Amino acid sequence: MADRDAPTSQFFRSHGADAPDENPPTHPCVMVVFGASGDLTKRLLVPALYNLACDGLLSPHFALVGTAMDGLTTESFRTRMTEDIQRFHTRKEFDPYVWDDLVSRFHYVAGSFSDPAVFATLKGEIRRLDLEHGAGDNVLFYFAVAPKFFGGLCRSLHEAGFKEGAGWRRIIVEKPFGTDLTSARRLNEEVLAHWREDQIYRVDHYLGKETVQNLLAFRFSNGMFEPLWNKNYIDNIQFNVSEAVDVGSRGGYYDGSGVVRDMMQNHMFQMLAYLCMEVPGSFEPDAIRNEKAKLLESVREYTPEEVARYAVRGQYGPLLDDAGHVLSPGYRDEKDVAPNSRTETYAAARLHIDNWRWEGVPVYLRSGKALWKRGTEIIVEFKKAPEVLFKKTPVTSLGPNRLIFHIQPHQGIEIQFQAKIPGPRLGLQPVNMRFGYGDAFKASRYTGYEVMLYACSHGDATLFSRGDLVEAAWRVAQPILDHWADTPPEDFPNYTRGGWGPKGAATLIAKDGRRWHEVVTEEVLRKVPLFKDCDDLFLEQVIMSLRSKQVAKGELVIRRGDIGRELYLIARGRVEVQGPSGEVIRVLRDGDLFGEVGVLLSRPRNADVKATRDCDLFVLEKADFSRILRDHPQFADAVRTVAQERYRLEVDTSTLMKPV
Ligand code: BG6
Repeated sequence: MADRDAPTSQFFRSHGADAPDENPPTHPCVMVVFGASGDLTKRLLVPALYNLACDGLLSPHFALVGTAMDGLTTESFRTRMTEDIQRFHTRKEFDPYVWDDLVSRFHYVAGSFSDPAVFATLKGEIRRLDLEHGAGDNVLFYFAVAPKFFGGLCRSLHEAGFKEGAGWRRIIVEKPFGTDLTSARRLNEEVLAHWREDQIYRVDHYLGKETVQNLLAFRFSNGMFEPLWNKNYIDNIQFNVSEAVDVGSRGGYYDGSGVVRDMMQNHMFQMLAYLCMEVPGSFEPDAIRNEKAKLLESVREYTPEEVARYAVRGQYGPLLDDAGHVLSPGYRDEKDVAPNSRTETYAAARLHIDNWRWEGVPVYLRSGKALWKRGTEIIVEFKKAPEVLFKKTPVTSLGPNRLIFHIQPHQGIEIQFQAKIPGPRLGLQPVNMRFGYGDAFKASRYTGYEVMLYACSHGDATLFSRGDLVEAAWRVAQPILDHWADTPPEDFPNYTRGGWGPKGAATLIAKDGRRWHEVVTEEVLRKVPLFKDCDDLFLEQVIMSLRSKQVAKGELVIRRGDIGRELYLIARGRVEVQGPSGEVIRVLRDGDLFGEVGVLLSRPRNADVKATRDCDLFVLEKADFSRILRDHPQFADAVRTVAQERYRLEVDTSTLMKPV
């Protein structure tokens, strides 16, 4: 449709160059991985070490000792890692020379963590490798094991004399750090009984993501945003972490956890702290961590009544075909999940930050599994400009400005604002400016663990959570968990696999007169047959104008006789178009469009449209539709064809494009 080479005035792409590589390599050390035969080691840790090595960022004075119950030897461990790296490395091309050198520094000690003899063997092995590789007596312990082992490992390492020596000793602990406030406090006590806080590095892998780290760079290195970063200019903030994956093989773990423990208390609260904390005095680790802790301490601890009012939970049900056959199982039928499980796979909440900067600004969070898309975004919605100025113009309302941080899979930053539509009349159109990481930097795809290992080796704890921060986060999550444990959910499962989540989440925000801002991607829109072959510029315009609406099974979406000014697209669900005596004229499903007749002909709706399943819909207002069509007359033809085929309606395209 549009000329791809023509300048796309709708957004400007930024271009930058990669910074010269001035980073010194990791600090020399022997790294001991507990749980070396597990998933984390092969999927993330070893690929991260390999990436560091490829980039010349891994010290030549490095060796690794893997330890676990599995009866492997150094040889078989190396063989296994060599097979696994082929599957899990993240670079375009594999470099066998770098790998051979790296894997030759891997060693293995088999045994149980409760056996003192294992620690004695480890000690000898570490001493030997330290001398062989010149690691400066520095030892990094990595706990890639279940949390129940953390406390015991800390004690055993202490008792086996690992604290002594000239070099540093550091411990990286994987999440989850506790399962509630009480257990997190107990764990902190157990760990800190043997090691100092500055030796403990609690991982939250979200802090390893470039786009999350960039939140700080963005806020504090750009003078234009910080003055606006408060209740005077910001209307609300939304954190969205949608996952398309279900619980997969992790049912055993997940069923005892749920999304509040798995995603909110850690990853989402970390992002919240970065986005909303006060300006730190410096980029020193504790200057930043102090501000994060202060922010989380300002988040209101809810009473049970407040939890009921401000938090919503959900659990996914099966995906069924029209005949009611299960296409994909619901959560309760997943492997290792209790058949009557009450565990939430979705949660949405409104939080209050009771401090000077944010008082009264709603902060909305939502996350879930088995949703319609994978995408993590933070949306900062600014207060609208006063509309009164436009009173005597064709502009009827103004949209808010939004700043959107695209964390993943798309990585970038977007600013949405209104621009004048070219022409003699005053018309406005929402437009955006976008910065995409991939457009500006050449950085290769990292696992996120490179930066964590690198920072820890240099003693930089900025990207790791401190004990008080973990407890502050649990303090906010605990009342939600408690209230939900006390009040069994009555409507589980309450959302369909592949949908947008429970309707209650939409109601939660609608009560405040707001709605979730769905970040729709071109990829999602292209699944709709009508948009399949449309060009990027057109889709971008449609995306900017869509709003989301959830409708429950049985609800009427369109009523005969009403004046309709919207067009609907079914993202997921099923509706029936019903004639005057309730007869079903047509059944419409995912990817179908309806409501176009009223919009095309500006006449009252000629049929009822009723949801026969819970539906996730996109709504396009007539005003936006006409405007988009004026720029893309080819699309008007496509809509006209739908009207002809369905209703034998002849529509004059010029009527369609008239400004409303
Ligand atoms: C993990 C959770 O911490 O984060 C998983 O345990 C979740 O359930 C994962 O899928 C999400 O991480 P990412 O990096 O894919 O957003």
